[in-house]
Amino acid sequence: MPQPVKRFRVRPSGPLRGEARVPGDKSIGHRALIFASLAEGESRISGLSGGLDNLATADAFRAMGIDIQLHGNAARVSGKGLRGLSAPKRPLDCGNSGTTMRLLSGILVAQRFPSRLIGDASLTKRPMDRVIQPLRMRGAHLDGSAGAKKGVLYPPLYIHGLKPGESLRELVYETPVASAQVKSALLLSGLYADGLTQVIEPGPSRDHTERMLTALGVSVERDGLRVTLDPSKGKLRWRGFDLQVPGDPSSAAFAVVGAAMVPGSEVTVRGVCVNETRTGFLDVVKAMGLQLDIDEEEGTNASGERVAALTTRNGPARATEIEDEALIVRLIDEIPVLAALAAVAEGKTRIRGAAELRVKESDRIAVMVQTLRAFGVECEEHPDGMDIVGGRPLRAATVESHHDHRIAMTAALLGMIAEGETIVNDTDCVGTSFPSFVPLFRQLGADIVEEVV
Ligand code: S3P
Repeated sequence: MPQPVKRFRVRPSGPLRGEARVPGDKSIGHRALIFASLAEGESRISGLSGGLDNLATADAFRAMGIDIQLHGNAARVSGKGLRGLSAPKRPLDCGNSGTTMRLLSGILVAQRFPSRLIGDASLTKRPMDRVIQPLRMRGAHLDGSAGAKKGVLYPPLYIHGLKPGESLRELVYETPVASAQVKSALLLSGLYADGLTQVIEPGPSRDHTERMLTALGVSVERDGLRVTLDPSKGKLRWRGFDLQVPGDPSSAAFAVVGAAMVPGSEVTVRGVCVNETRTGFLDVVKAMGLQLDIDEEEGTNASGERVAALTTRNGPARATEIEDEALIVRLIDEIPVLAALAAVAEGKTRIRGAAELRVKESDRIAVMVQTLRAFGVECEEHPDGMDIVGGRPLRAATVESHHDHRIAMTAALLGMIAEGETIVNDTDCVGTSFPSFVPLFRQLGADIVEEVV
């Protein structure tokens, strides 16, 4: 029997107004669950996203013998230490979550047992050689599967584990693309290695892993774009900890851009993580001429993440250029929603240097161009970006999510300013990161409903 699927029905909204809180940061949530599972003793994590991606990480550790009790958005994790995982009896299902698969691979290659990592249809199309190759360079035994492109390895991943007497070796690795998932997988494998792990990146990818390791007492040094984990210094064991996960800036971006786009709006999002490696979209919103206040009164959490309230007001937006390599990596997940903002900005917005978008939950360059055109926006696709001509009225459309949460939510925002009724099909994927998206936008005043079809 076909499964029921959800869709959004969206009509033009009056002003979005009020205060909101978004779900906990997905990236920090994954890492908190991982480090709590590898801790010695009980950890308490609060403010988790409640999204399916974080649950996939929790379920994987449960399958390896870790007791994780979830109560709403809080978790109690009874960690068994770095060497406390046991062989899973079934494949570890990462669902839609690339972060789960890539970060887990770094831990699993260091175990003495074999394991298999599987994912949904979207994840199964995402390249995995970016972690397989460097992990092999330090002596790990793992394979991926053939897929769309010759010479590229995809899920499922087959991890054979280390043979008796073997251990992982030192690794100095220059990553061809800036990727926090690759960097984190290598640092995690480095916790088990004989020598140091050094990762040199072409741009500043998110640094939540390094911050959490440092807070736990592991020696991680950062020197520009070079990160070094030296197991001969600092600690390699830590006790259970308490951690509050701050709000996800990538989810807050929908409220920020929604307020910026919908006439007469003013929205404050509280408790948002404003780690500099994540706030490129705030720089762009400001560069587009919008009024944005960042109130950093909210302090810092236990893993050293800065937290702030963001207040955005609607106003005239002007086109911009998003092409600087160091900026792109700081807003890679926000490009779809910024493309929606570009659709209302006066002039032509140019996005380049973002080829990584083609290997996210969907091909976000092709899919965004298709989505914007459905709303009557003039745009042009480029191998590594797009041009968007903004400032003309939008017409409502019926569009697909392409199983990509950020595309579904971006299309909903476009529906809030388009003339007529917009339908976004297949919106179950929004539950991977932002399960409260519809109630939150309804509370702010948007005319959006979710239907089961
Ligand atoms: C993530 C890193 C980013 C990002 C993804 C989450 C993470 O991917 O797009 O949504 O939590 O490490 P890459 O590191 O592959 O660019």
